[in-house]
Amino acid sequence: MRTGYCGAFPWPLLLLQQSTWAALKVSVPPSPFRALPFSDVWLPCTFSDSARPIILQGLSVTWKRGDQVLAKYPDKFKPTRPGAAMSTELLQAGNASLLLPQLQDTDAGVYSCAVIFTPEKTEGSFELKLEAKPQIALGSPKLQLAKRAEVTCTASGFYPGDISVEWLKDGAVVTGPQMSLQQDSQNGLYDASAILELTPDFADANASFSCRVRHKSLDSPLEENFQLQLQAFPSLQVFTTVSGSTLEMLACLANGFYPQDVHVGWLRNRVMQPPIGSPPQRLPNGTFSSWSMIQPQEMDPKVSYVCQVQHEIWDSPLELAAHWQPKGETVAVWSWLVFGIGLALCFTSGIFLYRAKKRRNMSHPETQNKNRLSSESAGLPLKPATDNTLM
Ligand SMILES: *[C@@H]1O[C@H](CO)[C@@H](O)[C@H](O)[C@H]1NC(C)=O
Ligand SMILES: *[C@@H]1O[C@H](CO)[C@@H](O)[C@H](O)[C@H]1NC(C)=O
Ligand SMILES: *[C@@H]1O[C@H](CO)[C@@H](O)[C@H](O)[C@H]1NC(C)=O
Repeated sequence: MRTGYCGAFPWPLLLLQQSTWAALKVSVPPSPFRALPFSDVWLPCTFSDSARPIILQGLSVTWKRGDQVLAKYPDKFKPTRPGAAMSTELLQAGNASLLLPQLQDTDAGVYSCAVIFTPEKTEGSFELKLEAKPQIALGSPKLQLAKRAEVTCTASGFYPGDISVEWLKDGAVVTGPQMSLQQDSQNGLYDASAILELTPDFADANASFSCRVRHKSLDSPLEENFQLQLQAFPSLQVFTTVSGSTLEMLACLANGFYPQDVHVGWLRNRVMQPPIGSPPQRLPNGTFSSWSMIQPQEMDPKVSYVCQVQHEIWDSPLELAAHWQPKGETVAVWSWLVFGIGLALCFTSGIFLYRAKKRRNMSHPETQNKNRLSSESAGLPLKPATDNTLM
């Protein structure tokens, strides 16, 4: 079939030229490409030709940093950057990545990867930065009321070492940028921490605290916000009222705790009794007080009565046993603390030992009017059962 002059001539050739012109593609990572110091890094550069399979014949690849040639294929040349290398095997698969062993600060810069696959030529470039972004970690914001405390903000795993770590309270800088800085001798990365010291009171309860970290690897400062979670340990007291050979009344008072959620109850031979108590009352200093009472009318001194208090400040409930003797017999009033069954092990293995102050024969003004009274109390300092000696 014949076609006209126009249709016959150069269209197929032109199309072929166009497609071969666009056939070779080089791809490099987006800029900046971040890598860690002292690491061995492959700077990525891959190429493909949609019109032909890659063969080494007619292929040439040149890596430069700025104007300086770092590696070249196929030329044998002495690398100015020791260890910089491409792999012939990878090139055959269209992978012109450049190995830079043991990255140094001096390796930072703009790299170009130029590929010639005769007759085409194309290149890609990107900036290599030796940078690692910091991770922020905050210490626990659970603090005891009216006790000097510290909250730590740690920025870790960053590079280079210039950083600013600040503490803010309601948007205003309270401390910083002072902090301690350490470099990990293994990977060359840095850690920094800043400490916020405070003696929290209720005015701090609604304040918004934040730790702000600025570093060159970050487009905008990293900020971790939090509110303090104030806590106060209650003091516990157990009051017993004995009339003749009968244990008439038991009262358990938890005083000065915060926040207000609490459960105060009585166990008779480890069985929880229906409670008679008060919802938490606010004390003048802002903490709470709660009590629970039972009237056991008990005759048998071997039956155990234990006041159990559950509060978020302890991981397991705190217990205070009431001991009594029928009146007239030798009176022995004593107390100890039991931190839940699971923790008995810790006591026996001697990992830790807490003693509550024993207060003997202390009477309580409100219940003094009746018979012989005794109260047993567990005062501060009490520690949560899962203090750092555990687990
Ligand atoms: C190119 O080779 C390097 C080194 O083996 C490898 O890390 C990289 O993943 C390869 N790139 C591709 C796209 O296969
Ligand atoms: C904190 O804010 C809450 C809600 O706005 C308020 O109910 C509470 O009383 C405040 N606490 C203090 C200690 O100011
Ligand atoms: C608040 O008052 C109670 C009762 O007077 C006391 O036991 C507690 O220690 C006080 N707490 C603080 C944080 O001042």
